[in-house]
Amino acid sequence: MDARQPSQTADGAAIMRALHQQLPAEERVLDDPVAALLVDTQSDAFRTRVSLVAQLPETVRLRLTNFVLRSRFVEDCLAQAAQAGIVQYVILGAGLDTFAYRQPSWAQRLRIFEVDHPATQKMKQSRLRDAGIFIPDNVFFTAVDFENTTLDAGLRQAFFDASRPAFFSMLGVSQYLAADALDSTVKFVLSMPKSSEMVLTIVLPDHLLPSDEAALAASYAARFAAIGEPWLTRPAPDEFLAKLRSMGFSQAHHLSPEEANKRYFSGRTDGLKASLQEQMVRAVV
Ligand SMILES: C[S@@+](CC[C@H](N)C(=O)[O-])C[C@H]1O[C@@H](n2cnc3c(N)ncnc32)[C@H](O)[C@@H]1O
Repeated sequence: MDARQPSQTADGAAIMRALHQQLPAEERVLDDPVAALLVDTQSDAFRTRVSLVAQLPETVRLRLTNFVLRSRFVEDCLAQAAQAGIVQYVILGAGLDTFAYRQPSWAQRLRIFEVDHPATQKMKQSRLRDAGIFIPDNVFFTAVDFENTTLDAGLRQAFFDASRPAFFSMLGVSQYLAADALDSTVKFVLSMPKSSEMVLTIVLPDHLLPSDEAALAASYAARFAAIGEPWLTRPAPDEFLAKLRSMGFSQAHHLSPEEANKRYFSGRTDGLKASLQEQMVRAVV
């Protein structure tokens, strides 16, 4: 992607989280009162997204939950890690992630590092300003292009302490990285002290998806390539997990759609389900 332009897919993800907030509070997978404040509902991007979602076949639309499920799952894992004593949270490819601006009380002892392309970070900071959202003292921004800057160098600038365990999230990002850049990012996490962990999303290859989801993936991939954010890397979950274990992670877990449905979508009457196209992996050093 062109690091001089803010990420349009970051805006798209934020729009999807904002749309989810239109559900009654008790039906939300992710309760995010900040999401809508960072989105321009008068923009072409907003109108286009709403109309694209409305045109999807219902089976696919009901599984378009990855944008909220991934934040919810990460925040649940982070809460556990924080309880176990982790005090550094690094959000890789943060986009318009809102966690830092709606921090629960347990998060206030964390140092939160938002890492992203410079232009996307600038866009986020200006949206925060426009929305009158205060940036808490425990939030630090650092600009890094994973394709050509080491994460180590970027985080050091932000006074990240690589000698203490940290929790990393990387949501909706791995598909935009070349395989080498994804490897280097994962290796950096692995170089961290024991009990550090990473939760990330992967987009599955077409051959592992039913035809309706593969068609959605193809349309996304074409649209994002046309705006300069092509999908480059789509590992199969089993192979990715095997790789993480062989690299040296002590645990690697795939949150399968079945497990996600049981955990986050059971008892719903509206048919919402976990996404098949984008799934989540948790790896512990
Ligand atoms: C689809 S957005 C996801 C944003 C956010 N994580 C979320 O869940 O809403 C992808 C993000 O990855 C970032 N990104 C993509 N390639 C990157 C790279 N090479 N270096 C740093 N950030 C990158 C983009 O700037 C953007 O913020």
